[in-house]
Amino acid sequence: MSVTYTHPMSLPETIWEMLARTLSAEPKIDSTRNTPEALKDLYQRHLAVVLMNGNDPVGFIAVWPVEPGFVEIGSVWVDKDFRGQGLSHQIYDAVPGLPGIQNVIAFGVTTNPISVHVGERVGLTIVEDWTTPVSWRLSCGPCEVVAPADQPTCKKRNTSCWLRIIEK
Ligand SMILES: CC(C)(COP(=O)(O)OP(=O)(O)OC[C@H]1O[C@@H](n2cnc3c(N)ncnc32)[C@H](O)[C@@H]1OP(=O)(O)O)[C@@H](O)C(=O)NCCC(=O)NCCS
Repeated sequence: MSVTYTHPMSLPETIWEMLARTLSAEPKIDSTRNTPEALKDLYQRHLAVVLMNGNDPVGFIAVWPVEPGFVEIGSVWVDKDFRGQGLSHQIYDAVPGLPGIQNVIAFGVTTNPISVHVGERVGLTIVEDWTTPVSWRLSCGPCEVVAPADQPTCKKRNTSCWLRIIEK
């Protein structure tokens, strides 16, 4: 059985290195910010959820504070061997209760339709405006796939890349 961990539940010190390596290798997850130090820091600040199977991390989700008043739900991951069993619901469902998500605009950008589907249950709703209330700088700007000059005309937006916001 997989168990959802949130701070201050104690986790093995070794998992941060492992999670960082795994998340950074996932093509649909931002490759730059998932360092062991950053992941541990998020967890200790009540901004991350870890799913454990025994001593092994099998799932993760983070709420990144990207600007005052804005947090980005990201780094969503379930171990390949455990996919298709509903575990992503287990990590997403813990997000609305995180202290770090209160009184801010929470959003997420994804190219994964599974994330769109699973996020709906916690109120993440697709919005087609990529400038308000989440600014372009936070929505399209950080994209690692499309060059900044091509972003304004990107055809993936709202077809295979989606911005979702938790409406309060
Ligand atoms: C995305 C990811 C976290 C999903 O984890 P998972 O535990 O396998 O997903 P679950 O089994 O909990 O849920 C799958 C749900 O999506 C649905 N689903 C599956 N394929 C789908 C698709 N193509 N479109 C929409 N929904 C889909 C399933 O029917 C299921 O819905 P239900 O629980 O309401 O019946 C996992 O595949 C992963 O780690 N992927 C690699 C990293 C990644 O892409 N992260 C997202 C970056 S934003």
